[in-house]
Amino acid sequence: MRTLLLAAVLPLSLLACTGTSDKADTAEAADTDTDTAPDGAALFSANCASCHGESAEGTRTAPGLEREMGLSDSQLIRIMQDGKEEMPAIEVTDTEAQAIVDWLRELFSA
Ligand code: HEC
Repeated sequence: MRTLLLAAVLPLSLLACTGTSDKADTAEAADTDTDTAPDGAALFSANCASCHGESAEGTRTAPGLEREMGLSDSQLIRIMQDGKEEMPAIEVTDTEAQAIVDWLRELFSA
């Protein structure tokens, strides 16, 4: 005579896991940190010009940056990386932000 204890329901709910979306975290592979300074003009064009204008002259969206040159490098870098009021934080590395600052200073000292 068999004792059918199999009727006891085992909590196998663990099997019910749905597949988690496995987004490959490709961590900024393109962020090569070489010693050569990044191109500030190109970085500005790509990250800032849409709001501030190609020559940082300002647009309807954002002010011209000439009058901001009284700020220190680190203040300018912080504004880029943290954003300010209407301006969103921009994803630039310290090195890239510095290159943009250098380019701006060159631009407005000319
Ligand atoms: C999406 C639009 C947008 C982008 C992109 C953008 N900015 Fe701005 N930025 C603004 C606006 C709007 C302000 C004015 C913020 C405020 O109200 O003070 C501003 C302000 C600034 C200021 C002055 C802050 C102050 O009031 O003293 C600096 C400097 C600046 N931006 C630099 C940059 C640089 C450099 C980049 C690129 C790395 C950049 N911005 C990208 C919109 C933008």
